[in-house]
Amino acid sequence: MIKHCLFPAAGYGTRFLPATKSMPKEMMPVVNKPLIEYGVEEAIQAGMNHMAIVTGRGKHTLMDHFDKNYELEHQISGTAKDSLLTDIRSLIDSASYTYIRQREMKGLGHAILTGKELIGDNPFAVVLADDLCVSQEQGVLSQMVALYNKFRCSIVAVEEVPESETHKYGVIAGEQLKDDLYRVDNMVEKPEPGSAPSNLAIIGRYILTPDIFEHIENTEPGKGGEIQITDALLKQAQQGCVMAYKFKGKRFDCGSVEGYMEATNYCYQNLYLNQNSKSQPKIDQPNKGLSPV
Ligand code: UTP
Repeated sequence: MIKHCLFPAAGYGTRFLPATKSMPKEMMPVVNKPLIEYGVEEAIQAGMNHMAIVTGRGKHTLMDHFDKNYELEHQISGTAKDSLLTDIRSLIDSASYTYIRQREMKGLGHAILTGKELIGDNPFAVVLADDLCVSQEQGVLSQMVALYNKFRCSIVAVEEVPESETHKYGVIAGEQLKDDLYRVDNMVEKPEPGSAPSNLAIIGRYILTPDIFEHIENTEPGKGGEIQITDALLKQAQQGCVMAYKFKGKRFDCGSVEGYMEATNYCYQNLYLNQNSKSQPKIDQPNKGLSPV
């Protein structure tokens, strides 16, 4: 069983400046929920109950979000607005939240290694919260956990991207075992245009076996001078087994302005309006002197 989920959330989010100058990218709201909350929901749905968050300087709002806010809760207690906190309260009660700071931003591989203390010797999921994933049926992590239970090895989620986009991603190649499943034998981080081994790009969902930490420890800085998880995964693939899974669902790159806008429109139309028409309270009633939303 996979119980741990690691959220590397220490990056600077430079593609979204100035919004991310003092606000963590993971706290940017898509409609009325911060990005990280979508990721935590996906992890809990997949049966995980230990959320391990790698933070950096200026990221304390992440911790505040998964904690009580007594003053606010007292203010809205007994009003219609109280129910707006139902979902986040349930997430807080369903899991433990632990944090560790990455002191220097040396890349995703380094951020994952920083989380080792919180994960221990357990297989774990990794969610990059700025990749927002939605799916009609099971969440992407639930799909990956089902595969892990079968293969017991590291799994990366991939999607097909146009050739002109491959230079933005880690790209895999390997033996196709099924329509949606590959055994990885090559991986390149951000390949030069025209040199990608395929059009299958790794997105921000991973299941990793704990021996990955040793591989990261033995990985030299790669592309951009950063310790790349792709390089460590390639070693793991060469010495053992790594699968790549073409997930069912949609992914939005919310680290880019375009992807964020697409996600916002999609979630507003397909999640928020649907849910709101059924269950949201009418919050424009005067109560306790609070101003209407
Ligand atoms: P990104 O490259 O997408 O995030 O890293 P970034 O560096 O914050 O964004 P830009 O490119 O400057 O706009 C992927 C994920 O890895 C985390 C980021 O927080 C993000 O979730 N990360 C990256 C770390 O936690 N530490 C790092 O040193 C690098």
